[in-house]
Amino acid sequence: MKILGIDTSCDDTSAAVIADGNSVISNVIHSQIKLHNPYGGVVPELASREHIRNIVPVVDKALSNAGLKPNDINAIAVTIGPGLIGSLLVGLYYAKSVAFFNKIPLVAVNHLEGHILSILLEEDHPDFPFTALTVSGGHTSLYYVKAPGDYELMGQTLDDAAGEAFDKVAKLLGLGYPGGAIIEANARSGRADAIQFPRAYISDESLDFSFSGLKTAVALYIDKWEKQGREKANNIRLTDIAASFQEAVFDVLIDKLIMAGKRSGVSSLVLAGGVACNRTLREKLTLRTIKEGFKVYFPRPAYCTDNGAMIALAGFFRAVNHDYADLNIDVRSRFPVKDIRKRK
Ligand code: KG4
Ligand code: ZN
Repeated sequence: MKILGIDTSCDDTSAAVIADGNSVISNVIHSQIKLHNPYGGVVPELASREHIRNIVPVVDKALSNAGLKPNDINAIAVTIGPGLIGSLLVGLYYAKSVAFFNKIPLVAVNHLEGHILSILLEEDHPDFPFTALTVSGGHTSLYYVKAPGDYELMGQTLDDAAGEAFDKVAKLLGLGYPGGAIIEANARSGRADAIQFPRAYISDESLDFSFSGLKTAVALYIDKWEKQGREKANNIRLTDIAASFQEAVFDVLIDKLIMAGKRSGVSSLVLAGGVACNRTLREKLTLRTIKEGFKVYFPRPAYCTDNGAMIALAGFFRAVNHDYADLNIDVRSRFPVKDIRKRK
């Protein structure tokens, strides 16, 4: 069974073809980073216009790289939410028209479900059940993953997503957008113990996250540091701020993922989403899981950031059950994972 997956939930236009539910035969991504970089974040109006420009060539390329024509596809899986409305609409309406003209069934996919299942695109993946932490620019959530389509939300951010905090701190430090990879690169030569930024645990029991207090603490610190003439102040360098901020985020992410794993009684943990590209986070989490007796799995970076392959995969599990969407289905800017089974 061949599935075409399309994702335009935020600022990447992506399309991919997967076969038999696990083999990725093409994966095309058109990034809009350069377009949004001068604004320090995604501008929704510009994002949807850019998707309109790129959706046809990106889908065509995904098909031609796979050596396929639309008629060779068994189902088209498309993200209907959560995400930016204008962006989602472009992917959904293009998917609908390809489905209609070629008489191919349409499958509606929740973007978060794509991130949760993305690890199954890798040969080295866990058996069900497992505990997953999806951590990206729009979400920071912990799930007990029992089977495809069967997820229990264990905790989530009460304010900013972790990736959003990276993007905001990078902006404050004048490092550009998006911030994750730039903060990581700077942190490599910094001291992670130079500044004790706050870690929000909310309570001993809580599996929820909060990053807005940390963001404010870093903003106040940078303000003081700038006024004192940067490096001249206590010999603190920009790289030390990046490393100390990153460490504060990772301590909480790792502690809560381990706590969620223990609470759900699983032996496998998964880290997914854009922030999971971070090598320092992968190394720290791997060391900790060895100590705690878990096995941890990471999708490769191309499957951590937004991509069509994870959407095709989530769609595959619905297509095998003939769980198809109506052509009059609409996008949803908010689409909690708990609503996945009530999607139609
Ligand atoms: O999954 P993704 O591509 O899009 C969303 O669904 O949000 O994640 C993008 C986020 C951005 O906030 C970006 O700064 C962050 O992932 N990110 C990273 C790294 N690479 C990307 N954060 C930390 N370290 C990285 N190396
Ligand atoms: Zn995403």
